[in-house]
Amino acid sequence: MTPAQPVASTAGDVRPGPVGLWPDRRVGNPAGAWAHAYRCVREETERRAARLSAEDQVVQSMADASPIKWHRAHTTWFFEQFVLAPHLAGYRSFDERFAYLFNSYYVAVGARHARPKRGLVTRPDCEEVARYRAHVDAAMQSLLQSSSGDALDGVIPVLEIGLHHEQQHQELMLTDILHAFSENPTAPAYDPSFRWPSRAVGAGGFCELPEGIHTVGHQGHDFCFDNETPAHRTLVGPVRLARALVRNGEWLAFMGDGGYTRPELWLSDGWATACAEGWTAPGHWREIDGAWMSITLGGLRAVEEDLPVCHVSYYEADAFARWSGKHLPSEAEWEVAARAGELEDAFGVVWQWTRSPYSPYPGYRPMAGALGEYNGKFMVNQMVLRGSSLATPAGHARASYRNFFPPTARWQFSGLRLADFPA
Ligand SMILES: [Fe+2]
Repeated sequence: MTPAQPVASTAGDVRPGPVGLWPDRRVGNPAGAWAHAYRCVREETERRAARLSAEDQVVQSMADASPIKWHRAHTTWFFEQFVLAPHLAGYRSFDERFAYLFNSYYVAVGARHARPKRGLVTRPDCEEVARYRAHVDAAMQSLLQSSSGDALDGVIPVLEIGLHHEQQHQELMLTDILHAFSENPTAPAYDPSFRWPSRAVGAGGFCELPEGIHTVGHQGHDFCFDNETPAHRTLVGPVRLARALVRNGEWLAFMGDGGYTRPELWLSDGWATACAEGWTAPGHWREIDGAWMSITLGGLRAVEEDLPVCHVSYYEADAFARWSGKHLPSEAEWEVAARAGELEDAFGVVWQWTRSPYSPYPGYRPMAGALGEYNGKFMVNQMVLRGSSLATPAGHARASYRNFFPPTARWQFSGLRLADFPA
């Protein structure tokens, strides 16, 4: 273990998107560049769906997960509802019934189908959903080609949210189909050539955050969701953060030491959940002939001790931290250390649970109108995850990004890193 090193506070995001995907917001709104970004994001959704059969795309394995076909249609409805209907004169919806089927949770824009019943909707079929996407794509390109000046300036902010929204669903497509495949005794592979992303080979150990006032929240000129604002000053430290993610080998030691059978390690709600759900290992793990296996995007694979632990809930992460004699970092601690470049595998491997409840930042104001429902109304009973995962599209996450899920959720690519008090 290396000695703890103090970190410097820096501004700016640490994981910019791929060159050429997002137009530079400081140089106006070039319609051609936005049309390119639109095509790239929409194509990525179809690329992810292309590995799946029509039957794969209809199934809904639990209430929290949605069918792949629904994700493809819902992201399309978002552009129809929030961009085309208000901004493209004479736009005709593809099918007026789709607003009921594919509105997720926007109460302000009308009634919607029950979430747990999305898997019962066999029509429209996948081919019709593909035609729906093509219809909206053509209208979006027409809108961008015909708009300029103030009209274009009015379109771009909502279009931009729509693209980042679709990227969020691209990740959910993988988590949701993985959960569906985990319910299949044959353990299908989404991608037989799937490999875990290469991970940092760093110094390990802990980085030290001395007590100090830091600015957290979004500060750049690039896109962010409203829940990342306003940037604000906050007291951080003293604390030490593990540079590395917690790995399967450590988790197996936790299990071997009775981690899932010792109530003193668990929060009360966590223990009740673990008992009710029969948790004895992370999500998607299977014990076969005495060996631990895991359902991955590449199918059933042996649990490798060196890989980061994944598919653990907040409650499990918290219990593991307590067993370790440590705790989870707060989201502010995580952000300060990440901006300083002190965290290995901060992005692109597994989301990392923090001990921070998902709450509004001081001075937070949701967006005006129906899109104000996007984030603000979920700010209770959920915990913040930071970073990004192997399923997150390139160019989506950033240092100020706030993901959030209930403390029981473990079908996401969720892991953890530890925090400790100063040595
Ligand atoms: Fe959505």
